[in-house]
Amino acid sequence: MSNPTGNRPDASRRNFLKVGLIGSAALAGGLVSGRAAAAGDPAITEIKDWNRFSGEGVDARPYGTPSEFESGVVRRSVPWLTADPISSVNFTPLHELEGIITPNGLCFERHHAGIAVIDPAEHRLMINGLVEQPLVFTMADLKRFPRENRVYFLECAANSGMEWRGAQLNGCQYTHGMVHCVMYTGVRLKDILNEAGVKPAGTWLLAEGADASAMGRSIPMEKALDDCMVAFAMNGEALRPEQGYPLRLVVPGWEGNMWIKWLRRLEVGDQPWQLREETSKYTDLLPSGKARRFTFTMEVKSVITNPSPQAPIVHGKGATVLSGLAWSGNGTIKRVDVSLDGGRNWHAARIDGPSLPRALHRFYYEFDWDGSELFLQSRAMDEQGYVQPTKDELRAARGENTIYHNNGIQTWHVNPDGVVENVEIS
Ligand code: MTE
Ligand code: CO
Repeated sequence: MSNPTGNRPDASRRNFLKVGLIGSAALAGGLVSGRAAAAGDPAITEIKDWNRFSGEGVDARPYGTPSEFESGVVRRSVPWLTADPISSVNFTPLHELEGIITPNGLCFERHHAGIAVIDPAEHRLMINGLVEQPLVFTMADLKRFPRENRVYFLECAANSGMEWRGAQLNGCQYTHGMVHCVMYTGVRLKDILNEAGVKPAGTWLLAEGADASAMGRSIPMEKALDDCMVAFAMNGEALRPEQGYPLRLVVPGWEGNMWIKWLRRLEVGDQPWQLREETSKYTDLLPSGKARRFTFTMEVKSVITNPSPQAPIVHGKGATVLSGLAWSGNGTIKRVDVSLDGGRNWHAARIDGPSLPRALHRFYYEFDWDGSELFLQSRAMDEQGYVQPTKDELRAARGENTIYHNNGIQTWHVNPDGVVENVEIS
């Protein structure tokens, strides 16, 4: 029989505990204290119900849900942030997650007219405008094109928007939780556009949702023919209604508002719809009075998820695992540095898990906490060499009169009790 712990097969349970302890302490580079008491611990010595009685059978949970002890791991909204819950947002609990994939039930939601509930049998995708042959696809038609599987992050352009003028919301769920990362299954947008035959004058694509907001957004044809997908599945199962069931547009690395959910129409045109409709949405006003427009790419960004205000240090001094997420709309993350002292000294973090272009990356920094106050920061660099800016650098470039595209460095203050707060230092 294999022996995954690496212990001698004859080791007693107590020896096993000891060996396990030495192993983990050595890994973290410090002493993990308190476990010597395990010998008298009622969690070890007392017989529990679950030791004695059988549990529920295989038919109790045809679609499984997380343990009842994880009931606090949920998306959360901020009631005062938007006028009503129909046109609103909730946030991914980043501080509760591991790895790089966001579970479907925890992907933040942003919708402008609530969740459209659509029978896939009645759903159609139309392509019209500057095409040789306007087409209408059923879901079954779309599933006859070659499929691909890709892991991508989606970040709302307004993520961290409340933090432009200073530290606001006490938790990375609220400051950075308008991001999720799943594996999409779908077909290449290029393939279905080619089927309709884009005319040479067709330089822009208007994508429209079937929900009451329609959410018309224009995408340059170059991007549409590059890596965009029309997806019907996330993390191996059908899209969730919240995420656009039965069909959504995937626009890798670009701002979330372009990822049209409940996708029903693609119109090929020769100019962006934003200009036609004179909408001022998704522009960043600069102090000069000029505006940044068509700022599509979500630039390099990172955040420490643990410790963070919702995930304080509860174990006291000693071995501490710092963990976080980094991402860039320009490709993969090449490096993440972390600082414990507000950016004076930087240490290389360890990226663990897959490093995929335009996907979340997981990083770690293991250190021995001496119990003194910390100012935690992380700074990511992407494969194109872009380095995450400080918030002051961002404000110097763009002023304070905006909420979009805040990829500035986040600071968490840790006090000697392990309590963590959102702060800004300059
Ligand atoms: N698509 C439609 N049809 N309606 C919407 O309200 N919201 C957009 C985009 N696509 C929206 C939409 C915005 S602003 C964002 S950030 C993303 O969807 C959010 O995707 P999610 O709900 O899967 O997180
Ligand atoms: Co958005």
